[in-house]
Amino acid sequence: MRTQVGIVGAGPAGLLLSHLLHREGIESVVLDNRSRADIEATIRAGVLEQGTVDLLQALGLGERMQREGAVHHGIELRFAGLGHRVDLSELTGGKAITVYAQHEVIKDLVAARLGAGGTIVFDAEAASVHDLDGVTPMITYAHGGARERLTCDFVAGCDGFHGICRPAIPQSARKEFAHVYPFGWFGILTRAPPSAHELIYTHHSRGFALVSTRSPDIQRLYFQCDPHDDVANWPDERIWAEFRARLATHDGWTPREGPVIQKNIVAMRSFVCETMRHGRLFLAGDAAHIVPPTGAKGLNLAVADVCLLSRALAAFYRDGRQELLNAYPETALRRIWRAEHFSWWMTSMLHQFPGNDPFQERLQLAELAYVTTSRAKAVTLAENYVGLPLE
Ligand code: FAD
Ligand code: PHB
Repeated sequence: MRTQVGIVGAGPAGLLLSHLLHREGIESVVLDNRSRADIEATIRAGVLEQGTVDLLQALGLGERMQREGAVHHGIELRFAGLGHRVDLSELTGGKAITVYAQHEVIKDLVAARLGAGGTIVFDAEAASVHDLDGVTPMITYAHGGARERLTCDFVAGCDGFHGICRPAIPQSARKEFAHVYPFGWFGILTRAPPSAHELIYTHHSRGFALVSTRSPDIQRLYFQCDPHDDVANWPDERIWAEFRARLATHDGWTPREGPVIQKNIVAMRSFVCETMRHGRLFLAGDAAHIVPPTGAKGLNLAVADVCLLSRALAAFYRDGRQELLNAYPETALRRIWRAEHFSWWMTSMLHQFPGNDPFQERLQLAELAYVTTSRAKAVTLAENYVGLPLE
């Protein structure tokens, strides 16, 4: 097979890139090692920044999001038994976030690509990328028991953290920055109406907890856990007892409980790969960087990357200009490091760290008190949370 841009990975990065390129008249083929049913059912992120929402709408991909997503104008920070609202819209000149699950975004993107005649090859496991220094790089992949080749002008490595594209950049040409947190998130989906109108980020001596939503009858909640714990250790009643303890307020607030219909544990890490380009290979999304989910940035960063990359590729195909392609890693990394810092900061402020002493606990509470009383600090949180403008 031959195409202009060979895209490895049908996550938000790969699918949106394919869509953006199509609008510029550039052909692409997307390969993913999973089935369509699988990628459309994997539960991950839920918060879309204002810029992500505006982009999806401008591309004609926002119809279901607008109908089924929930616009939130604030979040709550809860600590020492009290809730404090951060008015995101008032602090950012009217911006907001939309709670709309990542797998719903994926469904919309897949439908749009296939509807426009785009090629997504599911169950296609990319094995290697070749000839990155030349002008016709090639991807080898396994599909239906056969070994296949995809020849292209450019390869977009959108294959997530465990993909094959980042390791294809020689070790000597990349520098990696990594930080692993000593905790994970235990995530649940529960069949119960929302406990609150807005997300609740809770600092508690038993550990962090987050109340999010999905729909009028499904909630998404998380609590900080041992990353090596096993969901089998957590029957529903133990899960709810933990949420009740961490989310308790002085005025007797309790979450709305229901049957737990899904449970999983996510490890937490920060990671950045510099560079994001090697010859004709370009990395985007989790293939190049990971953030802990506390800032809700992972999916949104993937969107920001492919916005830049599609514009750079469009400039190349339109009039042979390479400057934007050359500048891509540096431009993308500016936003990535900002999001890395924000995600690390939110994580550090809200979680219990093993071995935390009373001094560190007081520092966290002082930071939370400052964020919830100083307009300057609240603006810092709000403008990062709703998302800085796309470059
Ligand atoms: P991905 O969504 O990972 O997509 C990469 C795709 O590449 C996958 O479909 C994969 O199947 C495919 N692939 C990989 N290797 C190959 C190969 N060799 N050949 C072909 N295809 C390949 N963020 C939040 O903000 N909040 C959350 O709660 C949250 N939870 C998460 C839970 C998990 C388990 C994970 C892994 C991530 C979570 N994230 C969360 C982060 C967020 O979901 C990601 O940042 C986002 O998915 C990044 O999109 P992407 O397209 O770059 O990568
Ligand atoms: C989610 O709804 O899945 C969610 C919300 C906020 C976060 C992370 C995940 O910070």
